[in-house]
Amino acid sequence: MPQMPEMKPFQITAKIISNKNIKNNYFEIVLLAPQIARNALPGQFVNIKTSEGFEPLLRRPLSIHRIGRQSRVASLESKEGKEIIMLYEVLGKGTQILSQRMQGEFLDVIGPLGNGFNCYPLSAIRYPPILIAGGMGTAPLVFLAERLVHSPQSIVHRKPLVLIGARSESHILCEKEFKELGCEVKIATDDGSRGFKGYVSSLLTEILSTVNCQPSTIYACGPKLLLKEISRISLEQNIPAQLSLESHMACGIGACMGCVIKVKSKKAKGKIDDEYKRVCKEGPVFEAREIAWE
Ligand code: FES
Repeated sequence: MPQMPEMKPFQITAKIISNKNIKNNYFEIVLLAPQIARNALPGQFVNIKTSEGFEPLLRRPLSIHRIGRQSRVASLESKEGKEIIMLYEVLGKGTQILSQRMQGEFLDVIGPLGNGFNCYPLSAIRYPPILIAGGMGTAPLVFLAERLVHSPQSIVHRKPLVLIGARSESHILCEKEFKELGCEVKIATDDGSRGFKGYVSSLLTEILSTVNCQPSTIYACGPKLLLKEISRISLEQNIPAQLSLESHMACGIGACMGCVIKVKSKKAKGKIDDEYKRVCKEGPVFEAREIAWE
């Protein structure tokens, strides 16, 4: 994956504009963070200190879901490009504490972090891309879809096709946002309560067997097993794929090596070495062909 020019992240105290439960255990938080909003790219994330004390010790990495200018939040402070919006699922202590933080409070936030999606692959000039989301992986793909839809290439090709995978109908996220951008959306649920019954990777296989032209690029975000399967399919069908990996992170800034993944070795002077890359720094977005899945 080509590395973006190194940009120093900002550490800021961000005001909470809103923090609300959207469905089930899913929350949407809107933060006033102009420096981050102006510089963030799709696929990048922020690292949030959820409490004012030392418990929990680690920050929570949350991918950027949207930038405020697209937000429907009505606020005097909602001026163009000043807010960052994140979705999160309450799963542990950090997100539990975050869900209780109130409008008007402040959070210590570092970002934008990581290496995001390459939004303008040359091949996109001819064919539309496919975006594939599994569970919470849907969140950063809305930001990506916005950039793709508003890119110069979108004038000459169709809007992205979006495949959303979820456990059941009630867990489907962001369908409306993608449709508002003009994307075609297809749904897969594990239990068949909506759309295709089965994994979203199986839906992808079905679509690729019926369409008469290949997508220019696959962009995907979701659980490891889903990304591994999408990687296999994309390599088999010779479709470039950019995958945003989820990982447990400690520092989130490339210092602790706690988030490394194995990448395919390169031959150097006849020697083959395993190589590792940090999800928080060189990622979270990697090209499918560079990951050595374990
Ligand atoms: Fe520390 Fe990635 S979380 S290096």
